[in-house]
Amino acid sequence: MYHTLAFTGACLSAALVAASPLTSASNSPSNESAIPDFTFPPQNLTNYGNNSLFAQWRTKARFRPSSNHIGDPTAFWQDEEGVFHVSGLFSYLRGPNISITSSIGSALTSDFLNFTDVHDYKNASLFTNSISIGPGNNNDPLAVFDGSVIPKGYKGRVSLIYTGVHFLPISWSKPYTEGSEVQTLAYSEDNGATWIKPDIEPVIPGPPEGFNVTGFRDPWVFQAPQFAKLLNDTPETWYLTVSSGIRQVGPRLLLYRQNDTDFTSWEFLGPSVSTPVNTTFSTGNFSGNDGSNYETSNTLFLDEDGENLEDGVNFVTMGAESGRETHSFHYSLWKMGKFVRNPLNESVMLEDHATGVIDWGIGYACTTMPDYKTNRRLAFCWSNDDFNSTISEQVGYRIGSGGVYSIPRELYYKEIEGVVADDLAAENGYWSVATEYLNTTLANDGIALAKAVGNDTVTLATLGCKPAREILAFREHANHAWTESDFDVDVSSVKSNCSGVEYTKEGGVTRAFIPFTQSPHSRRWELQTTISIPETSLRNEEYEDFAAGFTLLHSSASAPSNYSIDDAAMLYRPSNETFMITRDLALGRDNVNTDPEMGKLRLWNISSTDATGNQTFSIQSLNIRAFMDGSFFEVYVNDVLTVSTHLYYWYKDSTRMGFYLQFSDMLVNSTLETGVRFSNVSVWEGVPNVFPHRPTDPAKLIDNGVGFVEPPNNPNLPLAYDGVGAPPLPPVENLPYGIDLSTVE
Ligand SMILES: *[C@@H]1O[C@H](CO)[C@@H](O)[C@H](O)[C@H]1NC(C)=O
Ligand SMILES: *[C@@H]1O[C@H](CO)[C@@H](O)[C@H](O)[C@H]1NC(C)=O
Ligand SMILES: *[C@@H]1O[C@H](CO)[C@@H](O)[C@H](O)[C@H]1NC(C)=O
Ligand SMILES: *[C@@H]1O[C@H](CO)[C@@H](O)[C@H](O)[C@H]1NC(C)=O
Ligand SMILES: *[C@@H]1O[C@H](CO)[C@@H](O)[C@H](O)[C@H]1NC(C)=O
Ligand SMILES: *[C@@H]1O[C@H](CO)[C@@H](O)[C@H](O)[C@H]1NC(C)=O
Ligand SMILES: *[C@@H]1O[C@H](CO)[C@@H](O)[C@H](O)[C@H]1NC(C)=O
Ligand SMILES: *[C@@H]1O[C@H](CO)[C@@H](O)[C@H](O)[C@H]1NC(C)=O
Ligand SMILES: *[C@@H]1O[C@H](CO)[C@@H](O)[C@H](O)[C@H]1NC(C)=O
Ligand SMILES: *[C@@H]1O[C@H](CO)[C@@H](O)[C@H](O)[C@H]1NC(C)=O
Ligand SMILES: *[C@@H]1O[C@H](CO)[C@@H](O)[C@H](O)[C@H]1NC(C)=O
Ligand SMILES: *[C@@H]1O[C@H](CO)[C@@H](O)[C@H](O)[C@H]1NC(C)=O
Repeated sequence: MYHTLAFTGACLSAALVAASPLTSASNSPSNESAIPDFTFPPQNLTNYGNNSLFAQWRTKARFRPSSNHIGDPTAFWQDEEGVFHVSGLFSYLRGPNISITSSIGSALTSDFLNFTDVHDYKNASLFTNSISIGPGNNNDPLAVFDGSVIPKGYKGRVSLIYTGVHFLPISWSKPYTEGSEVQTLAYSEDNGATWIKPDIEPVIPGPPEGFNVTGFRDPWVFQAPQFAKLLNDTPETWYLTVSSGIRQVGPRLLLYRQNDTDFTSWEFLGPSVSTPVNTTFSTGNFSGNDGSNYETSNTLFLDEDGENLEDGVNFVTMGAESGRETHSFHYSLWKMGKFVRNPLNESVMLEDHATGVIDWGIGYACTTMPDYKTNRRLAFCWSNDDFNSTISEQVGYRIGSGGVYSIPRELYYKEIEGVVADDLAAENGYWSVATEYLNTTLANDGIALAKAVGNDTVTLATLGCKPAREILAFREHANHAWTESDFDVDVSSVKSNCSGVEYTKEGGVTRAFIPFTQSPHSRRWELQTTISIPETSLRNEEYEDFAAGFTLLHSSASAPSNYSIDDAAMLYRPSNETFMITRDLALGRDNVNTDPEMGKLRLWNISSTDATGNQTFSIQSLNIRAFMDGSFFEVYVNDVLTVSTHLYYWYKDSTRMGFYLQFSDMLVNSTLETGVRFSNVSVWEGVPNVFPHRPTDPAKLIDNGVGFVEPPNNPNLPLAYDGVGAPPLPPVENLPYGIDLSTVE
């Protein structure tokens, strides 16, 4: 039973507002850059001065360089002291072809709450960056792309095997210039602060003979006792994969084996993952699409606690290119199954039992790192900025910075017990069936096996993904925390008790925003909660447009009615099993991407035994942890669905938060069950500054005057930049004004 809402007071007179088109203030071009004013509607973002938006959407609790651009997470490792080396592809905002300057920048941390740039800020003339390796020698003349680390590698030193770039551009959509990408090696004598390039040839000079590749990069090095067993190698043997694809045939992960003790020679064994071009594993769209080229692939062995090289279930993660029309044609995928000996060659190949999406939003190039102390696998996903593509490069200069990483995520093998063995569980998707602990099979086969022995439930197996446990400590940095009372609502109660509720009605669909008793004052918070929805609404066309969730940020109630508004929500839409993040933002489509993010989430029918020994059934709820930090928003649901996105709010005070319910006219007078229960709602506002050692003066953080990285072969000195050949910088108008980072909450 759902009790009705006890609203007090009268209906708001302005409660029913017609959806109005988003309007912008005058965009009249002028020779002077406008000064952003976050109390008035926004202009065309390109009207504002360089760096004038430096602080507006900046994250505070995420890995990012002080300025310029960060791309793929890469070259992660944990040193002997247990310190994590977090790094990524760093490049200057020097368009049009910024990857020309691509290098690797790094920071150190032990707890993900406190990062230290590898090159610190003590010497004012050297503060500029945290680069540990840049392009410039014979093996990497144009750019450094992703690599991975062997703690005791070349001559016993910590070593990085990475992609050196010889020709640009490189894209799955363009013909591949032979020799564009080689795998090459560097080592370090200062614990990874700088990497030395020995005078050797690339360790893998090109793709295997006869392979017409779509790409050949992102080497991933790992030990794999399970491979060693299949291939009769010693258990310490190192393997390496290169992410790739064969043109028109499909994406491939190419497996190599260490061929000498210095890691300078690698033997090609065969593809360890082969997928036909443009494959969709799940007909219900629970698995994304493999497209035509893999990138940033990791091979993992996981159990319920994290890493287990000996007995862990086999997983592969990958960025898949070309099989998606949105998100720069990118899907972030994973596969689980079993590596088996390939009878045709000297290799192993993955028998695919399930394919899923690691991050359904803008999160991409997800890359992992071990924590040897706790046997965990930690992943970071990268999110690029998300402005309207016609102006995004120009907007980059207005911000002076681009790209951000997720919080660290723990990846693990996850079992879901007691799932009713029905046709829904038998579909291909992001789940397989566990036949016993750490042994899985294709869902359809597993259901058949269960039925054959008279079982009416199964244990499903999937990739678990949750915020790293360290992130709980963010809550200790909150300056304000509260809970909201549990809240039960249905379509009729929300209609008849309208006080405080703000309705928007459009095309026969009502959207109800029910503000919390209090809201944050900033966009830096965590929201934790549970939502339960009626079972009958799942996969039911009668519930078209029925959805429940939370408004994440909404314009102030006192905003003038002719202002465009900021309004973003996360919601679950049971009729098509879709979790969505909507972003109707004041900046509008001309400035930012306002398309909703969507991920597919199946809520399972779970059997359990009650106290009297009777079997009962109930569908899963949505257990949510959602994190906002500047414009960056990431949400975790039931440890199986993750979505990252940007919510580019404009106004200072568009911070209102609340419950959200959406329904069609059809449901209003129907007798269908629409009761939704929101429970355990907690908000922690305020996050730590994870770069406490950086200057707070933006002028010291914004690096506007550097050129190409010109590293010597042994860059144990701070790297020097001479600007030779650099494209001209955009004019330094009004650099930077009105920014006081100490006031950034
Ligand atoms: C802007 O610059 C152009 C060219 O330099 C000049 O002709 C024009 O008068 C300027 N406009 C304003 C509003 O200053
Ligand atoms: C915004 O300004 C840029 C650069 O001046 C221009 O290319 C773009 O068309 C403008 N957008 C709109 C919607 O006017
Ligand atoms: C961050 O870590 C550094 C290096 O370990 C340490 O010196 C510093 O005290 C830490 N800062 C905070 C705020 O925890
Ligand atoms: C590779 O592509 C080239 C040019 O498209 C073609 O001539 C050649 O036959 C292809 N090779 C293989 C092994 O498919
Ligand atoms: C695969 O999909 C891409 C993107 O839609 C398309 O360009 C390509 O032609 C497809 N390839 C094949 C072999 O169907
Ligand atoms: C592997 O090492 C052997 C022995 O040194 C050598 O003959 C062979 O060419 C190497 N293979 C590759 C692929 O480098
Ligand atoms: C895993 O389960 C399959 C199917 O039941 C079985 O054939 C196989 O032997 C099992 N593997 C292990 C390692 O137990
Ligand atoms: C059937 O259920 C039993 C008891 O839960 C379980 O041990 C067994 O693995 C199940 N068999 C299959 C094929 O699902
Ligand atoms: C679910 O339905 C909504 C409304 O029709 C639609 O916008 C969305 O694309 C659907 N989601 C998926 C994943 O198909
Ligand atoms: C980007 O902005 C232009 C106007 O400058 C607009 O025509 C276009 O539709 C926008 N793109 C998207 C995807 O909204
Ligand atoms: C348990 O099941 C039995 C048989 O169906 C039924 O008679 C009994 O009432 C049930 N007990 C409870 C507590 O629901
Ligand atoms: C619902 O019922 C009321 C009262 O009978 C009626 O006025 C209203 O038009 C109906 N609404 C819809 C959407 O059918």
